[in-house]
Amino acid sequence: MGFIDVITNRFKKPEGRVEGVEKVTGRGKYAAEYEVKNICYAVLVNSRIPSGRIKSIFTDKAKEVEGVIDIVTHLHKPIVPGLATEDKIKESKFGLPVFHTDKVFFKGQPIAMVIADTLEDATFAASLVEAEYEKDSFSVDFDSAKESIPLKAEAKERGNQEVFENLPFIIDEQYNIKADVHNPMEMHATIAHWTANDFLRLYDKNQGVNNVQKTFAKLFELPEKNVEVFSEFVGGGFGSGLRVWPHVLASVMAAKQVNRPVKLMLTRPQMFAGTGYRPASWQRLKIGADKDGNLLAVLHQSKNGTSKYENFNDGITRVTRLIYKLPNLKTEAAIVPLNLSTPTWMRGPGDCTGVFALESAVDELSYQLKMDPVELRLKNISLEKHPDSGLPWSTHFLDEGLKKGAKMIGWEARKPNPKSITDGDWYIGYGMAVGMWNAGRREAKAAIIFHKDGNIVVQTAMTDIGTGTGTGMQNIAHEITGISKDKISIELGNSSLPPAPSQGGSTGLSSVSGAVYEVSNQLKLKLAEYASTINPNFKDAAFENIILSESKISLKNNSAVSVSYDELFEKNNLSEVRVEVSSKPGDEQKKYAFCSSAAHFCKVRVNKRTGKVKIEKIAVVGDGGKIINSQAAANQMSGAAVGGIGMALMEENQIDAKLGSLIANDLAGYHFAVNADAPIIEVDFIHKPDPNINPSGAKGLGEVGIIGTAPAIANAIYNAIGLRMRDLPITPDKILMALNQR
Ligand code: MOS
Repeated sequence: MGFIDVITNRFKKPEGRVEGVEKVTGRGKYAAEYEVKNICYAVLVNSRIPSGRIKSIFTDKAKEVEGVIDIVTHLHKPIVPGLATEDKIKESKFGLPVFHTDKVFFKGQPIAMVIADTLEDATFAASLVEAEYEKDSFSVDFDSAKESIPLKAEAKERGNQEVFENLPFIIDEQYNIKADVHNPMEMHATIAHWTANDFLRLYDKNQGVNNVQKTFAKLFELPEKNVEVFSEFVGGGFGSGLRVWPHVLASVMAAKQVNRPVKLMLTRPQMFAGTGYRPASWQRLKIGADKDGNLLAVLHQSKNGTSKYENFNDGITRVTRLIYKLPNLKTEAAIVPLNLSTPTWMRGPGDCTGVFALESAVDELSYQLKMDPVELRLKNISLEKHPDSGLPWSTHFLDEGLKKGAKMIGWEARKPNPKSITDGDWYIGYGMAVGMWNAGRREAKAAIIFHKDGNIVVQTAMTDIGTGTGTGMQNIAHEITGISKDKISIELGNSSLPPAPSQGGSTGLSSVSGAVYEVSNQLKLKLAEYASTINPNFKDAAFENIILSESKISLKNNSAVSVSYDELFEKNNLSEVRVEVSSKPGDEQKKYAFCSSAAHFCKVRVNKRTGKVKIEKIAVVGDGGKIINSQAAANQMSGAAVGGIGMALMEENQIDAKLGSLIANDLAGYHFAVNADAPIIEVDFIHKPDPNINPSGAKGLGEVGIIGTAPAIANAIYNAIGLRMRDLPITPDKILMALNQR
């Protein structure tokens, strides 16, 4: 290969992501990067106390700073009709009524906002805003908090808890997990622009443009079409973009107040207090088996932290109701109000937390039973039906995943007794766990615009948060229409496009893929219909029989029959052909239960001198139904595994209980897994389409990539050193302490 070949190859458009080149060249615009004329900047001022009331705010000094245009406070603000009264605030479900209360619920709560011509002026002036507070007592420490609110059970108790009395093997332990924070690379930011008195345009980092659109239409009592939201490129979300947070409303208020477009970008510390987090949790899990290893009874109790102004339920016990037959089951949950901002869904929400307790306990049972942990799972997984609803699973292949994963990690090398494998100062261990997720699907619309030159544009409002949705859409459109990929462009992340649900809860591709699948078929039928006005052979052609090539439409069963696009457009007097469909769940939901699953395996080394855990290899097999793009899907699974390593070993939102402050709220203080912490991660899939979930056969994958990772790691640590770590993150100090206590 010559030098020129190398160069041309290097600049060849990669097969990978449809947005790849735009992202890596910086051409793609993140929310804060749009250029809007006459823009000004808003900077939030955060409360310095965790609880109380604002007595007075002093803005005079800040106002004197050159370039300052105005300062918004709860006493000086534009009207937000949807938050005009206490009742409306409640009804809005907006959460924190930012600038609509003098109450302070947490440290870091926005209490004022400086708007200035430059970011520098606004930032400097914000530092000069002072407040006088009436301080209240507060509670930020989840572990010692007294108050808790019990939640209604999500489903009925199964069987009878008295069964425990007759079970020879019982594990009854408690598990604690610290709060984790999403920390996407791209900071949350919004450009708010009132292009008319009653027309709002937003460039905003989020995971669902239609959700943001609906929220502001409601808050400002506008028709939805008067709110336009762009979120075309998103630098990660992990759940933090599924809600409209206070800073987004703040930017919209700022733009209203000064009648200019306003840009507001959170700082990393502001993100820690402003866009949710995985709440701290406590769990008790009691599980019992008979002598043959049949898991017969479970009691799962959980608590998660929430804020003082909203009740957030993380759904921790849900997963326990999902995986195993467990004929006798009781789950209970409660929430603990704290002087912190409201938590939200984060990477495998609820299930990640719940399965850590469940899968740690099942692993512990396997040692008591002297049974291989894989075998114990295979014996107890409810493969036929959803244990709660009794509906048969549409498809469920966790058993295959377990067998495949065991091979990939080399499970036969595992020794059942801890501390059996060593290498110098390192103990080596193997662990595994399973994860499941209710596979959802929501109504989504997609459209295709077909041009005379054979190029098509596939559209949906859904935002691609980095998961590869756009690429998946291109893959499906290519597969169904036969149009080559370089002629298929994708438009998404814009509320004016055909509406779609938010991208979250592993429902993104499973919702939108159905719509793209159907609209691709509709395009073929529509073009055949137009062609039939020229050549009657196209009349009532079935879509399987229609071929779309570079410049003409033809029939598969009669290659002599064709009509050129030129003629088709001319004779029908067309400028373009547009088809749009809506695809939504139907009767299949009454007949089947749907799940995604994953089997996680890992091999770790634990250093007996330093307590350091080094993950040597992770193998994970996911069942996500049809895999539309193997590369993007595998990326999601391996990325999720890295998130799981963070959750297991590093991530922790550290809080000073005396001051009520977040004390590690930046990327120096908050540790997550980086490249050096990521081992070889081998990903495989079951690759069997689910024939019932949607026309494409794809189930979600995002969440199951992480759900079982942390317990697989903790279980491998046990296998290595014989110590059961029930509190996350498992930092070296905890391991050293445990090793030394023995
Ligand atoms: Mo997620 S927590 O499905 O963005």
